[in-house]
This record gives sequence, structure tokens and C-alpha cells, in this order.
Amino acid sequence: MKTLLHLTSSIFGDGGQSSRLAAEFVAAQPGAKVIARDLARNPVPHLDAERFGAFLSKPEGRSPAQQRVLEESDALVAELKASDTIVLGLPMYNFGVPSQLKAWFDHVARAGVTFKYTDKGSVGLLTGKQAYVFAARGGLYAGTPKDTQTSYVREFLAFLGITAVKFVYAEGLAISEASKTQSLAAARNALRALVQPETIAA
Ligand SMILES: Cc1cc2nc3c(=O)[nH]c(=O)nc-3n(C[C@H](O)[C@H](O)[C@H](O)COP(=O)(O)O)c2cc1C
Repeated sequence: MKTLLHLTSSIFGDGGQSSRLAAEFVAAQPGAKVIARDLARNPVPHLDAERFGAFLSKPEGRSPAQQRVLEESDALVAELKASDTIVLGLPMYNFGVPSQLKAWFDHVARAGVTFKYTDKGSVGLLTGKQAYVFAARGGLYAGTPKDTQTSYVREFLAFLGITAVKFVYAEGLAISEASKTQSLAAARNALRALVQPETIAA
């Protein structure tokens, strides 16, 4: 059975446009086991030196507080490892990814666990997974240098070994009602085109 990690990062929860698209994609995967994680509703704390220190701590010298941090991170990593498919709702806020998503990134990037350093550079350890990203934006950025999100998210996932990543964009949502309607319809078409081969392959 296919396992999907469904990540929501809109501050508007299920009502966010990125959330709705991601949820529609997940709903179109019959029979899949879904691990749902809403990063806005249940935020991962921001990484600080204390928390990062817990990642580096040796079991024998680990404090109870460090152990708790490690367990939180381990739980997030376990969800990723257990999934064949990652479905991410990705809003743009102030030209970047939601800080809640960045905090999650900071807790799943773990040396020796999700990536490792070698003589030839870093190697991602989470291979063989497919990711789908549903990006919602007020303005228009896709395919231009202003789209910092796509390269950043792609690069981060690749760092962990997740190189098969497909993006669907709903853009221009704040430009006008007509632009919003048209963009959401185009995003749904792109979504359906992604679902079709998946369903056939399953
Ligand atoms: C706090 C905030 C900041 C935003 N910043 C941007 C931005 O920098 N560029 C942009 O195109 N849209 C921006 N928007 C519009 C959102 O990208 C748009 O509302 C989108 O639907 C957000 O995804 P969501 O509905 O899944 O939360 C912003 C919206 C909010 C609430």
C-alpha cells in the first residue's frame, strides 16, 4: 500500500488555497495510507542552538531535554521515511516559504539520518520517493528569477535525496477575481493530469 505524507503549511489551515489543492490530490489517491501533518496547527519550534545541540548530542551524555528534542525530530523523520510520496501545500508568504515549514525543514535535515557528508559532498539518504508541491501565490513568479521558492524547495528536498519533485502552481490569486478563478482552474487541471498516471500505476 502506498503511504503519503500530507504536509499542510498554510496559516489558514484547510482553508488555504495550497491546502485545498494538496488535499484534493491526496483525496484522489484511493487506498493510500495518509500521514497528515499540519505544520501551522501543530507548529514545530524554531531551531535554536539548544535544539541543534540535541541533534549532535551523544546518547551517553544526553540530557532529558535533549532527548525530548531528539524524539520530536525523530518522529518527523520517521513520517518522512515511512512515506513513498510527499504532498506539500506551499503558500508564499513575504517572498518565502512559511516559517512553520522552514522549522520543519530544520528538524528533518539531520546529518547521518536523512543525509550524510562524504568526500564528494553531501548525499541524501531518503531516496526513491516522489514529491508533489502545490504552490499558491498572490502574484506571478513561476518560471522567473523572482520564484525563489521553487529552487529552494527543490534543492532542499534533493539534499535529502528526494529528487523526483513536481510542482503545480496557483498564481495571481490576489490580482483579480478573474485571475484567481482562472489560475485555480488551471491548477486543478494540472493536478488531475498528475493524478491520472498515478492511479493507473497503482
Ligand atoms: C502574510 C502574507 C504574506 C504574503 N506574501 C505574499 C508574497 O510575498 N507574494 C505573493 O505573491 N503573495 C503573497 N501572499 C498571498 C498568498 O501567497 C496567497 O494568499 C496564497 O493563497 C497563500 O497560500 P494559502 O492560501 O495556502 O495560505 C501573502 C499572503 C499573506 C497572508
